[in-house]
Amino acid sequence: MTLARLKLLSDHYAFDATPQFNDVGIYHVPFESMFAGTPVERRFRDGTLRGERIALIGDSGCGKTSLVSYVLGPTAESVAPILVPVHSLEHDATKETLIADMIISQLIRLAQEIGYPTTDTNDTIGQRRQVTRVNRSSRGLSVHPPGWIARAGIAKQIERQITTTESNTLVDKIEVIHQCLRPIRGDGLMPVFVFDDTDRWTAAAEETIVSGFFGNAIRWLADLQASVVVATHTRYLESTTENSNLLMFLDTKVELPRIPSADQLARILHQRVQIHLGPPNGDDSTWRLEDVVASSAIKELYRQYERGSSLRKVIQLAHMALVETVDANKDTITGREIQAVVRA
Ligand SMILES: Nc1ncnc2c1ncn2[C@@H]1O[C@H](COP(=O)(O)OP(=O)(O)O)[C@@H](O)[C@H]1O
Ligand SMILES: [Mg+2]
Repeated sequence: MTLARLKLLSDHYAFDATPQFNDVGIYHVPFESMFAGTPVERRFRDGTLRGERIALIGDSGCGKTSLVSYVLGPTAESVAPILVPVHSLEHDATKETLIADMIISQLIRLAQEIGYPTTDTNDTIGQRRQVTRVNRSSRGLSVHPPGWIARAGIAKQIERQITTTESNTLVDKIEVIHQCLRPIRGDGLMPVFVFDDTDRWTAAAEETIVSGFFGNAIRWLADLQASVVVATHTRYLESTTENSNLLMFLDTKVELPRIPSADQLARILHQRVQIHLGPPNGDDSTWRLEDVVASSAIKELYRQYERGSSLRKVIQLAHMALVETVDANKDTITGREIQAVVRA
């Protein structure tokens, strides 16, 4: 590997451990390709298409958002994913209409995005996001609004529905959402409400209040003939508190598997490198993963994973080692650089 290429990977944040939602799916290596006989992605995709209520279960940093973005990302067909921004902490979790309000404001935001260049939401990580977004096209990543919203007339109908209907009570608001889903379903798409990062929200308010509202919301959403996806931590399965009741409202459980071997971890890094350098046997470049990340480094990263680091943490270590390697004018990340950043 030449130093210039390694520097390009570093400049592109090729090993960014927390990519934006649309980007993370581009980096996704299907879990079902890592094992024989565990159709993780297929079960998830089929469940959403059938309008099921799905719990995506796994520890923090194991790939829940990655899976959602891969299956329901900008190029997904036959589904209309609606990401409900539960992570934003400014919401008052005790308000009865909270989830309906979140959905309505997300729908209006999506509808208005059509025809306007994307400006960022004012969420807490907005600043960092803006930086990423500015760099995105130069990083070789795609910039897409969700495909379904661009379909003829959907955005306009949603906007008209929301801006012309007076709605104060929960029942009114559910009706508005119902009306918004009509043109979506009329176009042969299954609406999919996605609650990712529910933890930060559920941690912010009293558990019983949140799970009560949340459980109810899952019910009325499912009554609207939509799929509901809730990404949640493994520990909720074991929990005896109200939160475990959340799972009662969900009929399909998709558990995220662990990365089975160092070879599979290598595939994940390979995918990252390939997106930024182009295919390994491209016209104007040839490269091997071994030249970027030596097998000693992969081994060391996988050892960290086996010791309990999340996949996110492992990718973050790879990123730090990449930066260190470039700073030291070396052209391959080896086990030594990984050990150094682990110690630091
Ligand atoms: N199957 C996968 N293939 C490639 N990268 C993955 C995969 N699963 C997770 N990752 C990467 O691991 C990191 C953590 O994944 P993420 O989806 O954010 O975890 P979670 O949402 O469960 O907290 C991200 O950088 C993501 O790109
Ligand atoms: Mg996540």
